Amino acid sequence: MDSENWNQRYAGSDYVWTVTANQFVEQHLCDLAPGTAIDLGAGEGRNAVWLAQRGWDVTAVDFSDVGLAKAKRLATEHHVHVEVVCADATTYEPEEPVDLVVLAYLQIDATGRRTVLERAATWLRPGGTVFVIAHDRSNVTDGYGGPPAAAVCYSVGETVEALAGLTIERAEVAERTVVNDDGVHTALDTLVIAVRPAA
Ligand SMILES: C[S@@+](CC[C@H](N)C(=O)[O-])C[C@H]1O[C@@H](n2cnc3c(N)ncnc32)[C@H](O)[C@@H]1O
Repeated sequence: MDSENWNQRYAGSDYVWTVTANQFVEQHLCDLAPGTAIDLGAGEGRNAVWLAQRGWDVTAVDFSDVGLAKAKRLATEHHVHVEVVCADATTYEPEEPVDLVVLAYLQIDATGRRTVLERAATWLRPGGTVFVIAHDRSNVTDGYGGPPAAAVCYSVGETVEALAGLTIERAEVAERTVVNDDGVHTALDTLVIAVRPAA
């Protein structure tokens, strides 16, 4: 989907996604000492706001200005500041190295995935972390929800490969429980946590 499609999707006043952070973001980043962070493909800002609440200096990057306006709103509602930048994730470049890059459900094609992962790895300060959570390719056939097109889904192997040079701390297909009116479901996510070795 291009930015115009995403703008249309975000056009209503209600939030499209939950306003609480992704469960794996909370689980794996809650003990990380705050610093500077980029949330790439931040959408309506649920993860960026959660990080800001924990003391992170966060820049939310997305190519949907409508999504980012809602991220700003969510930040205001939670009395925190989140810097927003409207840019394409495949060409965006931060001004300075950062301590954390979050990619949460940035479902784009294989070339785009490789580009953003390789670039994100270069943005880290020594000791900095890239955190990837995304719909896994296996979710298309064996999991719940998410995009039906495998072409925009991640795999653990390709994600680890694109983050070459970083130390892989965690790399797995994580099961995410989804509870809705239809019942309880299991979604399958690629989860990779990679750290730039200290200088
Ligand atoms: C499924 S949403 C996830 C939003 C957010 N990360 C979250 O977890 O709630 C995917 C987001 O990626 C953004 N996006 C997709 N392709 C992008 C690109 N090439 N550059 C910047 N943002 C992009 C969309 O606008 C959308 O907000």
